[in-house]
Amino acid sequence: MSGYTQSQRLQGLPPYLFAELDRMKQEQVKKGVDVISFGIGDPDLPTPPHIIQALAAAAADPKNHQYPSYEGMLTFRKAAADWYRTRFGVSLDPATEVLTLIGSKEGIGHLPLAFVNPGDVVLVPDPAYPVYQAGTLFAGGETYCMPLTPARGFLPDLGAIPAAVAKRAKILWLNYPNNPTGAVAPREFLAEAVAFARRHRLILAHDAPYSEIAFDGYRPESILNIDGAKEVAIEYHSVSKTYNMTGWRIGFAVGNAQILAGLGRIKQNMDSGVFQAVQYAGIAALSGSQQCVADNCRIWQERRDVLIAALREMGFSVATPKASFYAWVPVPAGFTSSSFCADLLAKAGVVVTPGNGFGAAGEGFARIAFTVNVDRIREAMDRIRKLGIRGG
Ligand code: MLT
Repeated sequence: MSGYTQSQRLQGLPPYLFAELDRMKQEQVKKGVDVISFGIGDPDLPTPPHIIQALAAAAADPKNHQYPSYEGMLTFRKAAADWYRTRFGVSLDPATEVLTLIGSKEGIGHLPLAFVNPGDVVLVPDPAYPVYQAGTLFAGGETYCMPLTPARGFLPDLGAIPAAVAKRAKILWLNYPNNPTGAVAPREFLAEAVAFARRHRLILAHDAPYSEIAFDGYRPESILNIDGAKEVAIEYHSVSKTYNMTGWRIGFAVGNAQILAGLGRIKQNMDSGVFQAVQYAGIAALSGSQQCVADNCRIWQERRDVLIAALREMGFSVATPKASFYAWVPVPAGFTSSSFCADLLAKAGVVVTPGNGFGAAGEGFARIAFTVNVDRIREAMDRIRKLGIRGG
């Protein structure tokens, strides 16, 4: 059968950025190119053994082979709440203020379906993780882009949002430590965002999967550390980046119980929860020793330092990220984001992500995810150096 026309909502979407990058990479691999990919924020380090053991033991137990509960096992939600108390000093009721997700991406994509009606506005940073916009579009909402610029430290200017737009807005998305820019948000900004959400009675959805990947003694805060945040905010967390578990698909959202209940209702109708064995693995991750997280950070930091030093030596004026595993690199004069990334792939076999793939305001930048080892970072930088490309 042929002639199936995709829905207008799909026609309105560009190809999914990371699927597209993967396609381009595979094309080169098929040609026999030894591709070095900095394209996706997917840790190459293994999941710690105690987490794998917890999965294996739970997978062998027939009690875990049936449908899990929709909102997640209470023991998993309790582990998430305990982790929040230890890590951020925030108290959460595991029964109502923690919701288990099939990875935070799933909960991000579904949130607008619970709260956005056609014509409502969703405030989305630009550049940003593409799922904030895609979820808005699927719910029939309109995206209002908030540019993140170097001049403002990649924090949106909430004061510049027109009153008429703020009035129609249902959700404000924020994400710190930030993907793709690697920027971090000071407490004052988080407080300003909570005040904005309270003033305009909208949902503040803070996506925080990189909170544990931080360097030089910096410890990112939770949005729930801000007084009054629980009245308006939820925060997304994922074990994916913290414990090298992107393939396992488990995350959680915490905060305002009413917002989580709405998201949970969408999920009851769309999915059947997370495999219990994976939830037991999540419990092992959140409740076990956190030494593995510190060990990972040391590895990310070494890679960051090698990468940033090599880029600067080639003339790129790139900031040193305090958190996340992303470097946000201004492309050299004479290039666009796309032409720079295409050149690196075609001539050096190096995949980096074009900044404009994260939104129009990302034009002029490329994102480098340092999720490959130091030897491969050096090799990639050598290849780029040999092209004679100089940053400006
Ligand atoms: C990214 O590269 O931006 C992220 O890894 C994608 C994701 O988390 O889905």
